[in-house]
Amino acid sequence: MTEIFESRVVRKIELAPQVFLFELERKINFEPGQFAMIGLIDEISVIPKPFSILYSKDESFAILFKVFGDWTARFSKISEKSRVRVFAPCGTGFISAIKRYKLKNPQKILFIAGGLGIASLYPAIDFFSNGKNTLIFGGRTSQDIIIKDMLKNKAEILITTEDGSEGKKGLVTNLIKTAEGVDPDDFDVAMTCGPTPMLKALVKFWKEKNIKAPLLLAMEEKMACGLGICFSCSIKTQNGPKLCCQYGPIFINKELQIF
Ligand SMILES: Cc1cc2nc3c(=O)[nH]c(=O)nc-3n(C[C@H](O)[C@H](O)[C@H](O)COP(=O)(O)OP(=O)(O)OC[C@H]3O[C@@H](n4cnc5c(N)ncnc54)[C@H](O)[C@@H]3O)c2cc1C
Ligand code: FES
Repeated sequence: MTEIFESRVVRKIELAPQVFLFELERKINFEPGQFAMIGLIDEISVIPKPFSILYSKDESFAILFKVFGDWTARFSKISEKSRVRVFAPCGTGFISAIKRYKLKNPQKILFIAGGLGIASLYPAIDFFSNGKNTLIFGGRTSQDIIIKDMLKNKAEILITTEDGSEGKKGLVTNLIKTAEGVDPDDFDVAMTCGPTPMLKALVKFWKEKNIKAPLLLAMEEKMACGLGICFSCSIKTQNGPKLCCQYGPIFINKELQIF
């Protein structure tokens, strides 16, 4: 159940230029793929922002974020004493999505992360870790390939960067159905999160190659409340419009009509 509470940042780590891991006060019981809405308590901010819950342990939970605009720039500079408002956990995670779409209990999963999309996938990679799963992790440069130490031994990791600075040069799709890559149909399900162009390319790729393995996508729609009140996060599906913050953020490829 979503709770609303005040918290404060207890640990700040800069993982790469403008990429931060923050730990915030309070343990959250959450499902992989769920997120927290975080609101700054200052004179400028009204609208909270969604961030995937990376992990929760002891008396804290963690998020990963990159500075994109004004809000994340201000958040990155927050002092450790400043309080923030949190709604969490929000949305429907990967495990509930597997049940909703009546997928079989996955024994072998293909994860596909683009840059910061690893934040949503990491708890699923950790939860389902059984030595049989594979992660394709793509970025523009090696600086986007973050939290590698946390991923160690949790899945086989195949890296791809657009500039070739780490792993194979190219896009994540270059590592699917290639000789040195993987065949998604060898897996029970694929789970992905990343920039919209990557998700769009994957949905198209799944269609063109007639891939049978279901593809679960963690969607990052613009959100204003995260609680199903403002309707700003509606996504077109075969079953009519669905709220990304309640029904989502996890959707199955065949259901989405936006790509
Ligand atoms: C369910 C959900 C989970 C999310 N989890 C995370 C997370 O774990 N970590 C994280 O960093 N972000 C996550 N996001 C996105 C995050 O909320 C936005 O990055 C953040 O709102 C940016 O806020 P801003 O005001 O600083 O930038 P904005 O003013 O909103 O954006 C500034 C510019 O950056 C672009 N931009 C914003 N976000 C992104 C992005 N994610 N990728 C590429 N370009 C972008 C915008 O299009 C715009 O051009 C999530 C979003 C959703 C819906
Ligand atoms: S963000 Fe307000 S309804 Fe989804």
